Amino acid sequence: MSQVYLNGQFLDDSDAVVSVLDRGFIFGDGIYEVIPVYHGSLFRMEQHLERLENNLAAVQIENPYSRSEWTKLANQLILKNEGVQAAGLYLQLTRGVARRDHAFPDNTTPTVFMMLQAVDSASLQRLRKGIRAITHRDIRWECCHLKTTSLLPNVLLKQWAIQDGADEVILFRDGHITEGSASNVFAVIDGTLMTPPKSERLLPGITRDLILELAREHDIPCQETDIQTEQLISAEEIWISSSTRELVPIIELDGSPVGKGMPGKLWERMFSLYQQFKSDFKG
Ligand code: PDD
Repeated sequence: MSQVYLNGQFLDDSDAVVSVLDRGFIFGDGIYEVIPVYHGSLFRMEQHLERLENNLAAVQIENPYSRSEWTKLANQLILKNEGVQAAGLYLQLTRGVARRDHAFPDNTTPTVFMMLQAVDSASLQRLRKGIRAITHRDIRWECCHLKTTSLLPNVLLKQWAIQDGADEVILFRDGHITEGSASNVFAVIDGTLMTPPKSERLLPGITRDLILELAREHDIPCQETDIQTEQLISAEEIWISSSTRELVPIIELDGSPVGKGMPGKLWERMFSLYQQFKSDFKG
């Protein structure tokens, strides 16, 4: 049993209940965030809260808390789940409870929910040995920069990858790579680290930004540029990044090895820079 936060209260997860008329349940009308927690401290909280603010403004859901109030509540939740060291803090807001109608309801209070999901270090270790991915056409909508809870296309794409014996799917639209089902994508092409530029086609990942920051700081050649599907097929290395999985090497794409079929040299370097950044980080 874990403690969760729901609408102003800390509760056991089994006692936390939301109305069937909640617009999150009926329409997927909500926004979410996943924030890493290392040694009990929220990692890159300001950046996650900035993205949350932008998302809430874009879909016109009122933000009930200031940054310091969110941080205080999130830290209280971490304390209430004593003993959880590495975790992802899941935070969700929906437009609230109202009679079903597509139009926004008047005067609803947003539903606010937070939970802590422990990260299984054994499965993280396995990911770092490299995973398989397939490519697929990006079947999602045209506002993929928004972190909405309407994730059915992402869920289906991930499931198709699993049913194909892979762990992730790399999506392409109009011949260009966008991102993974729940991750951003990097490729090493002719020695340069590349990732698609921010646009409405992909989520502006917080982990993606940190990897670019570290690359620039350590003089690793990098570019935010469109990557064609054919370029990806011949890339020396491919990685995915996310708050829950950090950076993970793809060692097989559509059944063919990526590079030498094992985690690449640049991945190893960036992975150690990332771990160093984490251990220098004070919450
Ligand atoms: N997903 N792109 C998509 C579609 C994502 O869902 C995610 C993260 C990312 C990476 O963003 P970040 O580095 O900020 O975590 C990119 C989270 C982890 C999830 O849905 O569980």
